[in-house]
Amino acid sequence: MPMVSMRQLLDEAAKGGYGVGAFNVNNMEQIQAIMEAARETKSPVIIQASRGARTYTNDRFLYHLMLAATEVYPEIPVALHQDHGNSPATCKSAIEMGFTSVMMDGSLMEDGKTPSTFDYNIRVTREVVELAHEKGVTVEGELGTLGGIEDGHGAGGDPMAHLTDPDQAVEFVERTGIDALAVAIGTSHGAYKFSKKPTGEVLVMKRIEEIHTKLPTTHLVMHGSSSVPQDLQDVINKYGGKMKPTFGVPVEEIQKGIQHGVRKINVDTDNRMAMTGAIRKVFAEKPEAFDPRDYLKPARDAMKEVVKKRMVAFGQAGHAGDYTPIPLAEMAKFYKRQLVNA
Ligand code: G3H
Ligand code: 13P
Ligand code: ZN
Repeated sequence: MPMVSMRQLLDEAAKGGYGVGAFNVNNMEQIQAIMEAARETKSPVIIQASRGARTYTNDRFLYHLMLAATEVYPEIPVALHQDHGNSPATCKSAIEMGFTSVMMDGSLMEDGKTPSTFDYNIRVTREVVELAHEKGVTVEGELGTLGGIEDGHGAGGDPMAHLTDPDQAVEFVERTGIDALAVAIGTSHGAYKFSKKPTGEVLVMKRIEEIHTKLPTTHLVMHGSSSVPQDLQDVINKYGGKMKPTFGVPVEEIQKGIQHGVRKINVDTDNRMAMTGAIRKVFAEKPEAFDPRDYLKPARDAMKEVVKKRMVAFGQAGHAGDYTPIPLAEMAKFYKRQLVNA
C-alpha cells in the first residue's frame, strides 16, 4: 500500500486506545529492522527522519528506501514523518519529496536551540498547517521544550524549565489547527535523561493527564521516549563502550501516557544503542571480520528486537490490518471540509 498520512494512523490509534511508535532512521538497515518488526507483530508504524538524517542520506535515497519498504511490506500502514522541522521551508521540502507528515517544531527558533515566543510558534506552525493540509499531509506541533541538546536539537539545560502549559496548549491547538501536539513533561533527547529511575517530580506524567482533560480529542506526542534499558547499556560497556550510568523513560510510564491521549511515541536512542552494542560485540569477538554484513546484520536484528518489544508495549501490535488506507487527496478534502464547516 502507498504511504499513509500520520493523521489516519493516530485517529485509528485513538479509536483503539493504543499508541504508535515513531522510530528514527538514517539508513537501509534501520528501515528494514522497523518494517520487519512491523510485519512480525502486524503493526502500523511511523518512520521518521530528522533534518540530520535527511542530510546524511541525501534524502532522495531515504525516500526511495521508503518506497521499497512499501513494496516489500504492502500489508503495513506506514507514515513517513519529518522529525523536528525547524522552519516552514524544511517542512515544505519534506512535503514536496513525499513525506506524509511533518513536525513544525516552532517551540525553538530556526537554529533548533533558542526557545521561541508563543506568537512565533503559532505563526510558523499555522503557516505549515496551511500548506500541509492542502496536500493532505499531517502536522505535528510542539509547545514547551525538551531538555538536552546532545542530538543536535533541543533547548539544552534543565528539562523542567519549559514544561507545556495546559491552558496555552488549548489556545495553541485552536489557533494552529495541528493534528498532533508534542508536549514537554521533563524528558530530554538522547541517552542521559535521568540520573535515577524517574519519579513524578522529574517525569511529569500528571501534566499529560491535565492536557488530555483540556484537549480530549488532540493526539499527544511524547518525544525523548527511549527507555535506555540497562541490558543495552551493559552490552555496549561489556564490549569496550563507555556509557555512563543513566535512566530513560520507563515503558510503564509511556503506557500510562497512552491511557491519557498519547498516540505517538518517539524512540531513537534505544535503537542506536541496540545497533551499537551488536556491532561492538562482533568487533570484540571476531576481530578478523571486515565484511560490513558481518556486523550490520546483527545490528539490524538487535534493533528489530527492540522495536518489536516497543510495538507490543505500545499496543499497536495486531492492528496493521484494521483499516483501509485513505489517500492523501482524500485527506486534503477532509481538511477542506473542516475549514468550510468552521
Ligand atoms: O530528535 C532527535 C532524534 O533522536 C534525531 O536525532 O538529529 O541526531 O538525527 P538526530
Ligand atoms: P530519544 O532520544 O529518547 O530516543 O528521543 C527521540 C526523539 O524524541 C526524536 O524526536
Ligand atoms: Zn524529538
